[in-house]
Amino acid sequence: MLVRIPQVLTQAEVALCRERLEAAAWQDGRATAGEQSAKVKHNLQIPVDSPVAKELGELVLHALGRSPLFATAALPLRVLPPMFNRYDPGMTFHPHVDNAIRAVPGTGQRIRADISSTLFLTDPDAYDGGELVVQDTYGTQEVKLPAGDMVVYPSTSLHHVNPVTAGSRWGSFFWTQSMVKDDAQRAFLYEMDMGIIALRQDLPDDHPGVLAMTSGYHNLLRRWVEI
Ligand code: NI
Repeated sequence: MLVRIPQVLTQAEVALCRERLEAAAWQDGRATAGEQSAKVKHNLQIPVDSPVAKELGELVLHALGRSPLFATAALPLRVLPPMFNRYDPGMTFHPHVDNAIRAVPGTGQRIRADISSTLFLTDPDAYDGGELVVQDTYGTQEVKLPAGDMVVYPSTSLHHVNPVTAGSRWGSFFWTQSMVKDDAQRAFLYEMDMGIIALRQDLPDDHPGVLAMTSGYHNLLRRWVEI
């Protein structure tokens, strides 16, 4: 299940990110890639432990906290510190699946990567190419969103980034361990929650249908969640 989440960052936050990133020192993206993905990854990143990555990472985490759509789509248990990358002309990330286990920087902790997220920091008309291409349950999807918008997709998906042919594509990316690790169960809960939200726009909260659906949602969540 691939979900687009509009306006995770405000335009002022996007501008702040871009201003900080303009002045930052970029390094080869292979620094954080596994042995296999290092061979297919050609981009630039901000070092994870740099002050700018920490400051902007906090900003992104704060923004996630106010997004009900991220909460219902991801059912997050832990979110790794967001990272920042860019693709200049000729840069690309060939097809790969993200690593299943990731270390939390500066701790001995590890998380299971269930969900991959890309938050766009450049508007689509500012670069050519650079689409994120994800093989989803219902076929291949190409994603290229306005700055401030985000896409989340299962980390089990094969995906790649098309070569950038002009301009530069900047973004933030990070992994989430979900309280519900199974993609199909998470997709079902998401559909059900969105259905309940739609019903509640037309029906009172104490309507028997709304009550039954809401009970069903929470009781399914109780069965499937791992904390
Ligand atoms: Ni990836």
